This record gives sequence, structure tokens and C-alpha cells, in this order.
Amino acid sequence: MNVLVIGGAGYIGSHCVRQLSAAGHRAVVLDNLVFGHRAAVGAEVPFYQGDLGDAVFVGQVLEAEKIELVMHFAAFAFVGESVENPLKYYENNLAKPITLLKTMVTHGVGKFVLSSTCATYGVPAELPIVEDMPQNPINPYGQSKLDLENVLRATAVAHGLSFASFRYFNAAGAAQDGSIGEDHDPETHLIPLVIQAAMGQRKSTSIFGTDYPTPDGTCLRDYVHVDDLSRAHIAAIPHLEKPGQQLFYNLGTGKPQSVREVIDTVEKVSGLKVPVQEGPRRPGDPPSLYADSSKAQNELDWKIHHLDLETIIATAWNWHKTHPEGFRE
Ligand SMILES: NC(=O)c1ccc[n+]([C@@H]2O[C@H](COP(=O)([O-])OP(=O)(O)OC[C@H]3O[C@@H](n4cnc5c(N)ncnc54)[C@H](O)[C@@H]3O)[C@@H](O)[C@H]2O)c1
Repeated sequence: MNVLVIGGAGYIGSHCVRQLSAAGHRAVVLDNLVFGHRAAVGAEVPFYQGDLGDAVFVGQVLEAEKIELVMHFAAFAFVGESVENPLKYYENNLAKPITLLKTMVTHGVGKFVLSSTCATYGVPAELPIVEDMPQNPINPYGQSKLDLENVLRATAVAHGLSFASFRYFNAAGAAQDGSIGEDHDPETHLIPLVIQAAMGQRKSTSIFGTDYPTPDGTCLRDYVHVDDLSRAHIAAIPHLEKPGQQLFYNLGTGKPQSVREVIDTVEKVSGLKVPVQEGPRRPGDPPSLYADSSKAQNELDWKIHHLDLETIIATAWNWHKTHPEGFRE
């Protein structure tokens, strides 16, 4: 299938491009490179630099590449910034994707996969999180994704769009061969921050809150390998054949891991000491977030290859160790 990967030069998108090619699909990347890296996409993959909100440009790409399905990874994803500058988030994460959907309808492209997020659930009343729990996001980032899910529902009814919305938990790890990995600037994700502290690229890593009602007092999150996320996207493709499909799936391992466990595992895998600074809780951080992803496993026959935190962190360490400057080298 010809798949347009929007945001394909970013962290998760670039891994998905690899997996699409490995599964025999033809991936085409569209990215404005506001955050992504051209070097994250192989030279053999058609690459279009531009904005997903540019209807004329996107329409030309859809036609020229005979696109049948769009995978949409492009978004702004800094929670704190979304509180300070909500309009920036609603513009990039909601308004532009609406333009994209209009363009797809105009050009007869009827299949769509969205990178949604566990942030759409807000602070869950129960754990693990299942898909039909109430979604009450607590910041504009999560709200912009939930709003887009609702736009997709209406588009499926009105125009027969078939879509899958994947609510990721914490994406982690890197390609098995260490050739691509996570390189965000600024970096806000725990595993790369801890690895950078271990490597001496940061003075220390911060633990925000050590008095949560969790076994070691630090927050619990669900780390899912980026290749496992990518494989779920590919597993969804055959389920989008019939028009009007509306699919929602959590993607996580279901294993809660604490901040301290991440730090200990980085130390174990790297053999380096991680300088740590303990501080107060951050407002808006739920104590614990982890997924029940049995729906994706059962309906899509999605298999989690990397269940264990040490294996996941080993792939991240391999990437950072061999690319200390990320893609800038
Ligand atoms: N990383 C995580 O743990 C995580 C968790 C939950 C959800 N998500 C979602 O997954 C998606 C991918 O996350 P990521 O970590 O790979 O992010 P990323 O920033 O690495 O990748 C996003 C890519 O989209 C591009 N982009 C942004 N706006 C664009 C626009 N208007 N037009 C064209 N390209 C644009 C950027 O240049 C970048 O290459 C995002 O939608 C994010 O909200 C990520």
C-alpha cells in the first residue's frame, strides 16, 4: 500500500517508515522539519518538505504518489507549552489536521491512522486504563488530540473515512540496529534525559516528586518500544478496508515502571552513574498511568516484542552511545 507518513522525520514516524518498508508497503514522508531530522529518513524514501496544513501542497503529494492511506504523526507535544500557548497547539494539532482531512476527502483518500495519546484520559479514576474509560484531558495538548478524535468520528460518519486512533503511552527505545533513535530538542522524555545525564551531557536528571502513593514514591509510567508502536500501525492497515471504520486502541505494555526504576536500569545497562536531583511534584503529573492494551492485542493480533524495560532501555542506550550528538553529526 502507498502510505503517506506525515511527521515521518520525527521520532516515532521515522521508526514506522522503517517498519512499513520491512512489511512491504511503500512509505512516502511529508514533514516540515520543524522538529524532525532529514537524516532519520532513508534516501530511498520519497521525502516532501512542507506543512500538513498546506492543502495545495498536500493534495499534490496525494495525487503524485497515489496515496491510499495517511499516517499522521505530526504534532506539537510539549504539555507545559500547550498550557502557556494553547492556540499554537490547537492550530497545529487540530486546525491543520482538519485541513488535511478536507484535502483527503477532496482527493478520495479514505484511510487514516492517528497518533493519539494517553493524555486524552487525564487523571484516570481506575488503572489500568481501558479504551472506553472517560476521557478528561487536563491540558490543551491532550484536549487537542481528543478533539481530533471527535473530528475523525464525525468524518467517518459523514464521508466514510476509516480510521484507527492509537493512544500511545510513553514511547521509548530505538531501532534495533542503533541507526535511528530519539532526538528531540528540547528533550522532555525521561529515558533520553536520564541517559544524557549518565553520559555527562546534563548536570543531573530530576525526579519530580518522591512522595507519590507508589511503591518507591516516584511516578509510574508505561514505556512501550517505538518499534512495537510502529508494528501496531501496520497491523491496523487490513482493518481499515471497509469504509467508516472507527478504531481506538491503547498502546502500552501494561507494565508500570517508576522513575527510579528507569534510572536504575539506565545505570545497569550503561555501567554509568546517573547524577540525580530530587525535587517537588510537578503540577498535572498523575501518580500512575498504564495501559490495558488487550484490545489491540486481540483485535489487531498485535504482539509486544519488547516487554521488559531493560531491553527497551538497551536499544535507547545503543542509539545514544553511538550518536552522542543525535542526528547532528
Ligand atoms: N513520544 C511519545 O512518547 C508520544 C506519546 C504519546 C503520543 N505521541 C504522539 O506521537 C506523535 C509523534 O511523536 P514524536 O515523539 O515522534 O514527535 P516528533 O516531534 O519527534 O515528530 C513529529 C514530527 O512532525 C513534524 N511536524 C510537526 N508539525 C508539522 C506540520 N504542521 N507539518 C508537517 N510536519 C510537522 C515535526 O517536524 C516532526 O518531525 C505526536 O503526534 C505525539 O503527540 C508521542
